[in-house]
Amino acid sequence: MKLSDNKATLSFSNGSPSVDLPVYQGSVGPDVIDIRKLYAQTGMFTYDPGFLSTAACQSAITYIDGDKGELLYRGYPIEQLATSCDFMETCYLLLYGNLPNVQEKVSFVKTIKDHTMVNEQMQFFLRGFRRDAHPMGIMTGLVGALSAFYHEGSDLNNQKRREIAEFQLISKMPTLVAMAYKYSIGQPYMYPKNHLSYAGNFLHMMFATPCEEYVVNPVMERALDRIFVLHADHEQNASTSTVRLCGSSGTNPFAAIAAGVACLWGPAHGGANEACLNMLEDIQRMGGVSKVGEFMTQVKDKNSGVKLMGFGHRVYKNYDPRAKLMQETCKEVLAELGLENDPLFKLAMALEKIALEDDYFVQRKLYPNVDFYSGIVQRAIGIPVSLFTAIFALARTVGWIAQLNEMIVDPEYKIGRPRQLFVGSTQRDVVPLEQR
Ligand code: CMC
Repeated sequence: MKLSDNKATLSFSNGSPSVDLPVYQGSVGPDVIDIRKLYAQTGMFTYDPGFLSTAACQSAITYIDGDKGELLYRGYPIEQLATSCDFMETCYLLLYGNLPNVQEKVSFVKTIKDHTMVNEQMQFFLRGFRRDAHPMGIMTGLVGALSAFYHEGSDLNNQKRREIAEFQLISKMPTLVAMAYKYSIGQPYMYPKNHLSYAGNFLHMMFATPCEEYVVNPVMERALDRIFVLHADHEQNASTSTVRLCGSSGTNPFAAIAAGVACLWGPAHGGANEACLNMLEDIQRMGGVSKVGEFMTQVKDKNSGVKLMGFGHRVYKNYDPRAKLMQETCKEVLAELGLENDPLFKLAMALEKIALEDDYFVQRKLYPNVDFYSGIVQRAIGIPVSLFTAIFALARTVGWIAQLNEMIVDPEYKIGRPRQLFVGSTQRDVVPLEQR
């Protein structure tokens, strides 16, 4: 962070003295006005619900240019990473800042594979859930429970212990998601097979049974790996900020990641992939492509409460670059499975075309986001809709960890403690119960 020659001056109409505020420059992107001393100097806070204009930290991990539709992990464009690197390389990049060479990759992959099994007791914990519980409710519980099963990771300030917790999380997330799925359908859990790739092993744990040999389809494996790469990090979004805020108290790293899982669940965030597919299925039931016009009228009616799920983004005011890559993957997967005429895919294309030409969407700069096509891919692979957000959580875990690590070693790190504009009652006296 570099101090700029530029300074911001805040002046007041009531004659209070004006204050100069330092301005900092990043390597790219908007400058920031440093308001840390504002309260001490003026007795005032800033007001920014939803953090529309607030940089809560400095970060060197992920950069998004929302107007250009650009996403970089550690400087590398997502398009290059998605086509030239796999998820393990992406994890290494996010965690350590550079892409691994061959030896570094081999060693990293081995470390991740060393931790794929979960403590056998975890299955008894899982059994406490109803079989029809939502997988994100289960995942929030399971990830939080890791803090009780793996005590050694509990000290967030111990770098070595934290690193072990990181490896455990990245390794065990696929195992936990697959266990939650198997539990919901009453099938035996499949233990990880470490000769398989990260994505291949996940497919095996999800879809193999002890009765038959399961062969991983390389097209599905690649598609899933791409989903993981595209979802691996996305700078200071709601769940990442949750992980940082939760971790800022010095809590257990598994607990901080469980908080991220809980936040991701919401339909405005990671839950959008599930909500998007449910929306497509609803329109399909209503009559499919012929009902698109009617549905769009509802979306544009502010009183209807209906949104076009998978569209719009706080940061992207252009096509989400992940959505383009996901659309490619969607075509590959559907072709491999002979589902080129999949009605939901056709419906999604029709919705996208209309939305991109419609004034309502054009004026508000609403474009498809990653969730618009990811649900169709996952459904084609055979993943149930209710599990989509858990797959997102699995992939985002590495981003959460990288961001948590960055925060812990940041000399400017402090416990997160937002302030407020209080609009409630001023001090008043309690009237005894019988007199109220
Ligand atoms: N459908 C219809 N109208 C929309 C949509 C949508 N999907 N998204 C935004 N708008 C409208 C919104 O009503 C508002 O209109 P107006 O200015 O007339 O009041 C305007 O566009 C600006 O929207 P906003 O709600 O102020 O924007 P935001 O930055 O607060 O919200 C968002 C961003 C992602 C929550 C929102 O676009 C949304 O709810 N989209 C649907 C859910 C979704 O697909 N979420 C996944 C995001 S990508 C995955 C992830 O990173 O989690």
